[in-house]
Amino acid sequence: MRINHPEILVLEDSAALSRKAAEILVRCITEVLGKRPHFSIALSGGSTPKTMFSLLVADDSFKNKIPWEKIHFFWGDERHVAPQDDQSNYRMANEIMLAKAYVRTENIHRMQTEKSDAGKVADDYEQELRKFFLLSAGQLPVFDFNLLGIGPDGHTASLFPGTKALHENRRLVVANWVEKFQTNRITMTAPVLSSADTIVFLVSGQGKAEILQQILEGNHQPDLLPAQLIRPTHGRLIWLVDQAAASRLKLSVQGKVQSSAFKG
Ligand code: 6PG
Repeated sequence: MRINHPEILVLEDSAALSRKAAEILVRCITEVLGKRPHFSIALSGGSTPKTMFSLLVADDSFKNKIPWEKIHFFWGDERHVAPQDDQSNYRMANEIMLAKAYVRTENIHRMQTEKSDAGKVADDYEQELRKFFLLSAGQLPVFDFNLLGIGPDGHTASLFPGTKALHENRRLVVANWVEKFQTNRITMTAPVLSSADTIVFLVSGQGKAEILQQILEGNHQPDLLPAQLIRPTHGRLIWLVDQAAASRLKLSVQGKVQSSAFKG
C-alpha cells in the first residue's frame, strides 16, 4: 500500500476539532466493517480526546452509526496506576465513552496496570496483542485506527524525549522510565504506533503551537521530538489541529490544509 504524505487539517477550534475527529473515526469504522468483522482502535490518553469521546456517545449522529459490539479498544499507552485512579487513561475513556456505550468487557483490552511490576504489565499486554492479532514472531499488529496526541515536550503516547523506549524496535510494548515523573509509563513502541491503516494526531491549543511547528516543519530529530517517530508503514497519517495550535505553522510541509479560516 502506498505511503501517503501526512495530511494537515486545521479546524476553527477544539469543538470543531473533536467533531472532525469523530466524523473521521465513524467513516473509518463504516468502511472497515464493510469488509471485516471487527474494528481495532488504539486510544490515546490525556485531556484532548475527551470531547471527541463524549461526542461519540452523546451525539446520535455518531452513536447510532457505531456497532459498538464490533469495536475492540486498546490503549497506545497507560500510566502505571490502578484502573480506578484518576490518572488512568482507561478510566477516562471508560467513564466518558465505553461504559455509556455498554461496550462488552471482552472488547476492552486495557493494560493491567494494577500489577506492581511495570515490565510484567508490558509483557502481558504484548501477549494480548499477539493473541488478538494472531501474530507470528517479528510480525507487527495492524490497527484499523490509532489516535495519538502530543505533549508540549514533543512526546506522543509515552514515548518521551531522551527515554529508552524511543529506540525499541523489537518489542511491541515496553515499560518506559520517565525521569521527570519519577515513574514508569507503559507504552506501545514506535513501530507498533506507526502500524495502523489510519493514524490521527489530535492537537489543540496555543500551548502546543511551538512544538507542533518544530515537529512538522523543523529538523528531523526524534530523540528530542518523539512524535516524529510515528511514520505510517502504510495508510493515512492525519494531523487534526485547531487554529490556536496551528498558529505558528508556516505550512511549508507537504500536505493539505482544510480550513479557509486559517489565514497563516
Ligand atoms: C497520556 C497520553 C499522552 C497525551 C499527551 C497530550 O497518557 O498522557 O497518551 O501522550 O496524548 O500527553 O496530552 P493532553 O491531551 O492532555 O495535552
